[in-house]
Amino acid sequence: MILVTGGAGFIGTNFVLDWVAAVGEPVVNLDKLTYAGNIENLASLQGDARHVFVQGDIGDTALVARLLAQYQVRAVVNFAAESHVDRSIHGPAAFIETNVVGTFGLLEAVRQYWGQLPEPEKAAFRFLHVSTDEVYGSLRASDPAFTEENKYEPNSPYSASKAASDHLVRAYHHTYGLPVLTTNCSNNYGPFHFPEKLIPLMIVNALAGKSLPVYGDGQQVRDWLYVRDHCSAIRAVLEAGRLGETYNVGGWNEKPNLEIVHTVCALLDERRPRADGQSYATQIAYVTDRPGHDRRYAIDARKIERELGWKPAETFDTGIRKTVDWYLENPEWVARVQSGAYREWVSTNYSERTTA
Ligand code: NAD
Ligand code: DAU
Repeated sequence: MILVTGGAGFIGTNFVLDWVAAVGEPVVNLDKLTYAGNIENLASLQGDARHVFVQGDIGDTALVARLLAQYQVRAVVNFAAESHVDRSIHGPAAFIETNVVGTFGLLEAVRQYWGQLPEPEKAAFRFLHVSTDEVYGSLRASDPAFTEENKYEPNSPYSASKAASDHLVRAYHHTYGLPVLTTNCSNNYGPFHFPEKLIPLMIVNALAGKSLPVYGDGQQVRDWLYVRDHCSAIRAVLEAGRLGETYNVGGWNEKPNLEIVHTVCALLDERRPRADGQSYATQIAYVTDRPGHDRRYAIDARKIERELGWKPAETFDTGIRKTVDWYLENPEWVARVQSGAYREWVSTNYSERTTA
């Protein structure tokens, strides 16, 4: 059995669904169910013995210790985190609590459990930590893409907290020999993405007739990867990654934000045209920039391609079409996640941004 943490969030949900379908090995899914976690995402696994859901905190070492022992876990995949940069600017404490202190608690429980495993289970055990390209900081237009050799230069409370967790994971390997693997992935998009992040926010706002808030000049560049390709990369690293190594994961899909927003608008114009015949792009509004906004991220994915033979299955063109279609086909999911807490966040983040 494997232990997945944060398996009711965006990437964790996709990972659990793909894992059960592709691998079939049972999963115990530990998730605190913060605003970002949604157990309904996993409704299709209800009654399936291959998925055990436990609501709880990765920092609760007693709980983690009990789960590890009870389910004789052979590997941990750690997705659990506070993940939204804008929220980390408004309230960094939760990011330190989960991403740093929580990861530390999880590592401690895993270290104790792993330390008393008999061989060969001890040698076969894996702890895979899911991290981000944001730990490397921001690139200039002419810089080469991030390799695993880039130094860490995190710029937001979110990326600093993820960098701290990466360092703890590294130290547990170096000091205690814990068999760890780390992945640093670029921006994901796809089904079950919470509509606080750029792509789902634009889809949801466009359909609701609301403005499409583009920060600053909209020329910040992100490197987009369809979420199920991230999941297949994690499976590849878990299976054959070299212990103590980090693997950058990305789809060679650098695009400025404004281009992303125009692409989403064009797809919606095609699939769900506005009643007045105008383009959704008329809803674009330039708003005050994100403080400390990183200008460009880009991933050099040659190491994972070379060592593990991993390649993304989707291009941006195919992935974004699947994504837009998923949101058009799942209006109830969108309505349910837009709870009171979501509306509060929208007001906190956008009400004081002036429109250019
Ligand atoms: P998300 O915010 O959608 O989901 C996070 C999940 O973790 C939620 O289900 C939440 O309830 C759970 N959680 C939060 N705190 C917890 C705690 N203390 N204990 C247990 N569960 C807790 O995030 P996501 O976008 O799915 O990202 C998952 C992981 O991947 C994160 O570690 C993130 O840093 C990393 N990552 C994300 C992206 C991206 O583009 N979304 C890219 C690279 C890496
Ligand atoms: O690079 C990987 C990271 O990608 C992950 O580690 C994070 O968990 C994930 O949230 C994501 O971070 P970003 O900050 O890049 O994603 P977000 O969707 O918040 O923003 C993408 C870009 O769009 C960024 O340049 C900010 C901009 N943006 C975002 C929002 C929410 C806007 O212009 N307007 C918006 O309303």
